[in-house]
Amino acid sequence: MSSMNDQPAATAEAVLAHIGRKRRAAGRTMKQLAWRWRANYYRRAATPGGDGFWTLPDHAGRSYQDALRMLHAQLQPQRYLEIGTANGGSLTLAKCPSIAIDVAFQLDHFTAQTLNKPVSLLFQMPSDTFFERYSPATLLKGPVDLAFLDGMHHYEFLLRDFINTERHCLPNSVILMHDCVPTDAFVARRNPDDRTLRAFSAHPNWWAGDVWKAALIIRRLRPDLRILAFDAPPTGLVAITNLDPGSNVLAQAYPEAVAAHRDLTLGAFGPEAYLRLMGARHLANPSEDLAGLLRA
Ligand SMILES: C[S@@+](CC[C@H](N)C(=O)[O-])C[C@H]1O[C@@H](n2cnc3c(N)ncnc32)[C@H](O)[C@@H]1O
Repeated sequence: MSSMNDQPAATAEAVLAHIGRKRRAAGRTMKQLAWRWRANYYRRAATPGGDGFWTLPDHAGRSYQDALRMLHAQLQPQRYLEIGTANGGSLTLAKCPSIAIDVAFQLDHFTAQTLNKPVSLLFQMPSDTFFERYSPATLLKGPVDLAFLDGMHHYEFLLRDFINTERHCLPNSVILMHDCVPTDAFVARRNPDDRTLRAFSAHPNWWAGDVWKAALIIRRLRPDLRILAFDAPPTGLVAITNLDPGSNVLAQAYPEAVAAHRDLTLGAFGPEAYLRLMGARHLANPSEDLAGLLRA
């Protein structure tokens, strides 16, 4: 006959492992509760006339610079284009012939590395003016393989930048859009000078703007595209491929789409619903096969 006392004694290691598991689970639960509490608190603190404050946990994946570095290494682009260069942080990562467009380059911060590539063509002008005057495929003697759109943080600008860039790409080129996964209502405000929700934000110096709406419009109107969003700090990175350089869908829908999304806020849309729609992924591993993921 067996009794409780006949059970084999647990080893000290097993007991410690069990305690460790319990503690980790409790830690996770506390974190989740804390986030839920904060989110509810901020929701209750809704501003008059607005749809209040919301927040998501900070992105926990590799930074957008890491993701860019990985994509340059894996895709080995032959021709790169970026809109929004500032002090050259992202341009430095490109090793191939490159076009950089910015209304105001911060050249005093460029290092020798920034221009350390066979061709660096810098255009100091608004991106719209660049596309009116020049053809990147002509300048680079071939279609753009990789593009990084990080210029003006208003959705109608990013939408135009995407439309104009796609025309000069190949179907398997990749267009990256920065700042499309903002982490709270303050970071996602349209007007950078609007400080209404600043006190609530864990990131009072960030501004992603409302470019997430460009990603939403592209997602809604172009089901033919492959779109993936990554939890790349600080404000996410959206990658788009399976491009169609001949498509006029977005250009034709542009005025209507911009008008239809003017008053939409991410709080009203639902930040979690947006993440689901964009196929948000955790980018933890620096050796993850991003190129394969995009081509899958
Ligand atoms: C966030 S910074 C770019 C940072 C850079 N890509 C990096 O990761 O190191 C945004 C830049 O976009 C530029 N910009 C703003 N509006 C623009 C426009 N309409 N056309 C081109 N550049 C623009 C600004 O001058 C600014 O330097």
